[in-house]
Amino acid sequence: MCGIVGYVGPKSTVDVLLGGLKRLEYRGYDSAGVSVINHQGQLETRKKAGKLTKLVEDIEKAPLGESNIGIGHTRWATHGAPTDGNAHPHLGGEHQKLSLIHNGIIENFSELKTELLLQGAVFASETDSEAAAHLVAAQYAKTGDLTESFRTVVRRLHGAFTILVVHEDEPGLVLAARRNAPLVIGLGDGENFLGSDVAAFVEHTKRAIAVGQDEIVILKAGSVEIENFNGEKVTHEEFTVDWDASAASKGGWSSFMAKEIADQPQSVGDTLMARVSSDGYVNLEELASISKLIPNIDRIIMVACGTAAYASEVGKYAIEAWAKIPVSVELSHEFRYRQPILTPNTLVVAVSQSGETMDTLMATRYAKEAGASVLSICNTQGATLAREADAVLYTHAGPEVAVASTKAFTAQITAIFLLGLHLATVRGTQPKEDLQVIGKELLKLPGDIADVLTTTDSTRALAKKFKDARTVLFLGRHVGFPIALEGALKLKELAYIHSEGFAAGELKHGPIALIEEGQPVIVIVPSPSDPDSLHAKVVSNIQEVKARGAQVIAIAEQGDAEVSKYAAEVIYVPAIHKMLAPILNVIPLQIFAMELAAAKGLDVDQPRNLAKSVTVE
Ligand code: AGP
Ligand code: GLU
Repeated sequence: MCGIVGYVGPKSTVDVLLGGLKRLEYRGYDSAGVSVINHQGQLETRKKAGKLTKLVEDIEKAPLGESNIGIGHTRWATHGAPTDGNAHPHLGGEHQKLSLIHNGIIENFSELKTELLLQGAVFASETDSEAAAHLVAAQYAKTGDLTESFRTVVRRLHGAFTILVVHEDEPGLVLAARRNAPLVIGLGDGENFLGSDVAAFVEHTKRAIAVGQDEIVILKAGSVEIENFNGEKVTHEEFTVDWDASAASKGGWSSFMAKEIADQPQSVGDTLMARVSSDGYVNLEELASISKLIPNIDRIIMVACGTAAYASEVGKYAIEAWAKIPVSVELSHEFRYRQPILTPNTLVVAVSQSGETMDTLMATRYAKEAGASVLSICNTQGATLAREADAVLYTHAGPEVAVASTKAFTAQITAIFLLGLHLATVRGTQPKEDLQVIGKELLKLPGDIADVLTTTDSTRALAKKFKDARTVLFLGRHVGFPIALEGALKLKELAYIHSEGFAAGELKHGPIALIEEGQPVIVIVPSPSDPDSLHAKVVSNIQEVKARGAQVIAIAEQGDAEVSKYAAEVIYVPAIHKMLAPILNVIPLQIFAMELAAAKGLDVDQPRNLAKSVTVE
């Protein structure tokens, strides 16, 4: 959460900062602010509550001075309401010559603030971050060495932070530090950048370096130095960003959400690329670093949050069926507190679009300390999770800007299917030709997704019909159950409607009491040719709720005539291998939630109270 940008170089700093914040705004949008040091050597700061446009309007009305250095921040509030005063940057020092921005939570800010107040510091905000600004300024006032003062202060901070500082006395220097929060460097020619992720500067440079845990960056226009918190020099490999600025722009779509839903043939196709041969054979070279473990894995625990957890739940069915390895899915924030039993033969698979979700990072750190190996399935190059895992299997969905996850979700499921097939192939748990049949079915997905996307009119009409619904229930069985959960989450986070997903078989054990006349119930229906005859059971579930007044919308396989006898509406998707059906079934649910939210006049890209990457626990 929260977006951070830093810049030193010949370009107009305000333009670089605001452009970067625009690309990062999905990370948090409670307020925004910038500080620059103008050509007269003066620090100028502007900050506004609300979305970035408020700040842009404010600067247009009263432009900042020309500058070649500055920092910018979009906030997702943790301490103090989203007000102008609590917006970042925060100033420090007797003459307020120091400016600081912060992503994360400083867990010991209260004791630090008490210490500062006793020294006479005057606080202008309720935030934890402002304590750091005063601390650096106070230390600098004592020592006269800004970098050393910054180093001293960051060593005192507990919790999660990415911090950037500029000071009038050093008009060519941006200092940065990170612990448990993201920070990447953009390397230019005579200019350098800092950002929460590469979107901050990708329009200017694709050369990037990911900053490691407990590291400090000393950034100037012509030089970048990285050191640990003890001042020892550190080096990291540079990487090249594999997407360009246009990929992170709407490209003519009404919203990022609409664009990203439409991207799914491409994002699933890119995730499959070079991993499945045309005859369906799967080989994941990225897993070479854990190849010795694979034959001995006796348990897989998947850790994730939200939509990524639901992708993991779908994947659980596939890995168990194909690779015959016991799989459990655990919410990252619950995982380490139950003292799970982990051994060197446990593989922990961490699924995360951003690779910065603090709950998931902390879960994987616990797992590694306990002796397990960690594989991350991540969508963000150079993300903390990707760097800390023993192996990483990237989803190549491209930047996902809308806060509610869509293309990353289907790409995550695709990557987990690939993992399941790779494990089964290596461990020889299925006849190779059976696995290749599934591999070939995977290759059909991009085309089938495109087919679903061409038949969305009825879904959009249904969304408008139900825009005033107070509650919506979702039912599914087997791999359809996590899709019911995901469909409900999409509706919660986009349309602010209370909605709930259930295992269809569970309804009669209590939740069916919720059914009343006119209650919308969306049911993910298995294929009529399902070998376990789950279709008949789900059709019975439909009749049970229909008999009590429910309005049933079915997501069903093309040609399923039976379901149309009982459902008020049927949205058909192409027939595909049972295990792969979730990727097709979820798309109408994504569109339903987006269109219903739009019909309510809501912002589908930046829903209230949310942030794209939750980098606090
Ligand atoms: C998805 O629509 C939500 N925005 C949220 O549940 C998200 O999936 C979750 O926070 C995990 O994020 P991650 O994949 O970046 O770890
Ligand atoms: N904890 C800080 C605040 O509430 C920073 C939050 C963020 O990461 O945006 O202002």
